[in-house]
Amino acid sequence: MRSVKEALDFGAKRLKEACDRPRFEAAILLGRASGLSRAELALKEEALIDDAPFEAMIARRERGEPIEYITGFAGFYSREFLCESGVLIPRPETEFLVDRALALAKDFAAPIFAEIGVGSGAVALTLLALEPNARVIATDISVEAIALAAKNAERFGVADRLELICANLLEGVNSRFDILLSNPPYIRADYPLPRPVLFEPKTALIGGERGTEILEAIIALKKPILACECGYDQEEILRAKLDENGYRSVAFYKDYAGLTRGFTATL
Ligand SMILES: C[S@@+](CC[C@H](N)C(=O)[O-])C[C@H]1O[C@@H](n2cnc3c(N)ncnc32)[C@H](O)[C@@H]1O
Repeated sequence: MRSVKEALDFGAKRLKEACDRPRFEAAILLGRASGLSRAELALKEEALIDDAPFEAMIARRERGEPIEYITGFAGFYSREFLCESGVLIPRPETEFLVDRALALAKDFAAPIFAEIGVGSGAVALTLLALEPNARVIATDISVEAIALAAKNAERFGVADRLELICANLLEGVNSRFDILLSNPPYIRADYPLPRPVLFEPKTALIGGERGTEILEAIIALKKPILACECGYDQEEILRAKLDENGYRSVAFYKDYAGLTRGFTATL
């Protein structure tokens, strides 16, 4: 047993090399391990806690495992998503894709989205939460991702407007939809991944030798309205592919750092 204060000091010290904000992360892990809120941790510094589960979490974080896999939660667009190893952790930059999808949906009273590569459900479920008249048909090649997206859909109370299909690209999607979305894997196979990213599934990250192979396959599906995330250095190759497939109106968007993050395109 340790007091809350002792546990926080211990955790912060152990995480000094492992992350940028050791005390902050130690507090998050202690909260998850002990069931105490951040306020309770601050108010009950002398309370004794069973520190074995906390130490196990600290050891995982010390080895570089992302905190989201350890706590089981990830924030995205102001919502807390269940997060499991085996499925990609939603990234803040993907919120730009949600914004593009919302803008495209303005032309429809009850938009129907299709999403390739639903993952945890971050994009699809945020759209369903924000657009009460929307429906989403989403695919993923990963059984784990489909199962997690289903759990998150129940959590947000939108499962009745979501159809999940475990399939490659749009195989098995037979019904009509208005807007095709995707944040597919787009990293080059030989790109040196940073340590925390090595804990995530390669099938969610690597797009092929060039990185753009899955994006190119999505463009070749020639769906009338498309919004996709892509790599910062992929605009030229994707513009050529969009042009080749007859897309007329193409706009690449950038993130807050001014880097290309994705595009919208209409046939
Ligand atoms: C970068 S993750 C995006 C997950 C989620 N949409 C998000 O933005 O957080 C890409 C997802 O695409 C899935 N995927 C990879 N190749 C696919 C394919 N050919 N067809 C369908 N899904 C695929 C992966 O399993 C992974 O869940």
